[in-house]
Amino acid sequence: MSFPTVRMRRMRRSEALRRLVRETRLSRDDLVLPLFAVPGSGVREAVTSMPGVFRLSADQIAEEAKAVADLGIPAVILFGIPEQKDARGSGADAADGIVQRAVAAAKRAAPELCVITDVCLCEYTDHGHCGLLDGEEVANDPSLERLAATALSHARAGADIVAPSDMMDGRVAAIRATLDAAHCESIPILAYAAKYASAFYGPFREAAESTPAFGDRRGYQMDPPNQREALREMHLDLEEGADILMVKPALPYLDVLAAARRRFDVPLAAYQVSGEYAMLMAAAERGWLDGPRAMLESLVAIKRAGADFILTYAAKDIAARLAP
Ligand code: PBG
Repeated sequence: MSFPTVRMRRMRRSEALRRLVRETRLSRDDLVLPLFAVPGSGVREAVTSMPGVFRLSADQIAEEAKAVADLGIPAVILFGIPEQKDARGSGADAADGIVQRAVAAAKRAAPELCVITDVCLCEYTDHGHCGLLDGEEVANDPSLERLAATALSHARAGADIVAPSDMMDGRVAAIRATLDAAHCESIPILAYAAKYASAFYGPFREAAESTPAFGDRRGYQMDPPNQREALREMHLDLEEGADILMVKPALPYLDVLAAARRRFDVPLAAYQVSGEYAMLMAAAERGWLDGPRAMLESLVAIKRAGADFILTYAAKDIAARLAP
């Protein structure tokens, strides 16, 4: 059967009809808000390249956590910007480090909120790379112990999920073993499994002060043209014990997300990164796009491609627009 018997437009004639046949729905349950923790108190510094995003001291993180929970958003992910940086990223696993204090503050203010922590060394190293250096080379194996110690210190501070984003080989296994040996066997690992060496992280690096002092991250993050390799990375992370797999960035890598959805039965996350957010906000500011509509369309596309949940800087604004 075909036209004129078949008319696809029949089911598009009203919003009620469209609602009945809608295949993908975005809800507050799908959103995770990234937060940047900085030292001090009463600090609320705007990130210029990300309108609506702030760097917050622990007391402000606590208030934000409450506001986020009140909006019905299930989770936040925390990044820390320490006072001091050194070659081995000592601040990353300090018991009273920036993220550790922020986690405790967020959990105290909103105990029901799921607090995820980003596990990486780049915000804590003076060279800005995600692992330890051997000369100008990022040394894989020596970095694993630092990453595992960082994840454990986050768990001890009260993190509900740890999320390694460094892209060292073997980090998931190292973190799992360290958590399990310390009786943190119930803490899930969200692996940034397919993380690409992307130009879309630009605004984040301003916010997190994590731009590498020399070179770039192409020696450890993935090469953008590769999809099969992403599936292999995800497979390896699952074998090492990852509970959730993530693709990052999101919109430029929807094919990777869709392929992962077909291949794996585990929860999948996607990170709508700083550059994706900044592009939409900048165009909206100039009146070139309807910002909220373009944002909703992007997030629905990421869900349609297969994400179970999405890390997005727009989480609060979008949650406020979605029906409870
Ligand atoms: C840390 C990390 C980065 C992002 C998340 N975790 C930066 C990077 O890898 O350079 C990017 C997030 C964003 O752009 O929103 N390794």
